Amino acid sequence: MEDTMEDAMETLTCVSLFSSRYCYANNDVNYVKKTLFPIVVTVLVLVVTYLIKNVTYWYSSRKTERDTAKDSPGGKRMELTNGAVAPTPEQVLGLIKKRRSIFPKDYDGSAPPRKHIEQMLEAANWAPTHGKTEPWRFVVMSGEGKAVFEEMCHDVTKEQLGDGSDKYQKYLEKRDRKKADKAKVSHLIAICMKRATNPDKTMPEWEEIAACASAVQNMHLMATALGVACYWSTGGPLDSPELLKFCGLTEEGDRCLGLFHVGMAPPERMQAYRATRGPIAKKVTWRSD
Ligand SMILES: Cc1cc2nc3c(=O)[nH]c(=O)nc-3n(C[C@H](O)[C@H](O)[C@H](O)COP(=O)(O)O)c2cc1C
Repeated sequence: MEDTMEDAMETLTCVSLFSSRYCYANNDVNYVKKTLFPIVVTVLVLVVTYLIKNVTYWYSSRKTERDTAKDSPGGKRMELTNGAVAPTPEQVLGLIKKRRSIFPKDYDGSAPPRKHIEQMLEAANWAPTHGKTEPWRFVVMSGEGKAVFEEMCHDVTKEQLGDGSDKYQKYLEKRDRKKADKAKVSHLIAICMKRATNPDKTMPEWEEIAACASAVQNMHLMATALGVACYWSTGGPLDSPELLKFCGLTEEGDRCLGLFHVGMAPPERMQAYRATRGPIAKKVTWRSD
């Protein structure tokens, strides 16, 4: 058995790629076993993993699209109350699935037109909200406004971590590494939450946070439709008094929930982003009795 395994190993190695030539020419089976075999196996494993991942991704995308199409025979479209016609279910699901967090390393440094930013904000404004409080606020920063904001965040972080501390040193190193990528972000949108837009009707905080998150999802979906690259980040000194003041969040309980990074990226870079989700069936319980 051992011999058979060894034979198989040698055969596989010898026939693989250019190594076979080396193997026969030099008659150095040990070299092949110790050096080339692991390389060949690693490459094979990587290729197979890549293929499985992509085929699974492609298959699951096609399957959901087919299933959704089945449920809307002839691509029947729902009429909306304002007389407009809704996109088909396939289009809705297609957009939702196409939405990806695109990171600044892939941005090209150009900016989307202001009109696109306005369309994204308009979409955000249609989020659901309990008690019609509409707690979302946005501070849109670009150019000098963005530079001033980043400088303020830097000063606050220095103060918080302590000049000369190890943590501050690490932060500086990371900051330097990310500097070029950060410069490619055309707009930073501070995602803000007003705690009490209607003092007579204060909702639980989690509901206001949920409303703001819904607004961000709307904004992200519109960005996807427009071909704008973006992602939501929650790092940095979001709770600091300086940042809150900068964003006009001056009342008790107001919060900044993160920064929406916006830029442009080549379509092929955006399309290269892949995502999967575990099956929804595992996350749902049906009770009909
Ligand atoms: C509330 C929230 C906070 C997030 N914070 C960060 C963050 O600080 N840094 C980051 O790289 N991504 C952050 N993300 C983006 C996630 O990394 C991203 O949504 C996740 O990887 C799934 O990818 P997708 O958005 O393309 O589906 C955040 C997302 C959400 C919803």
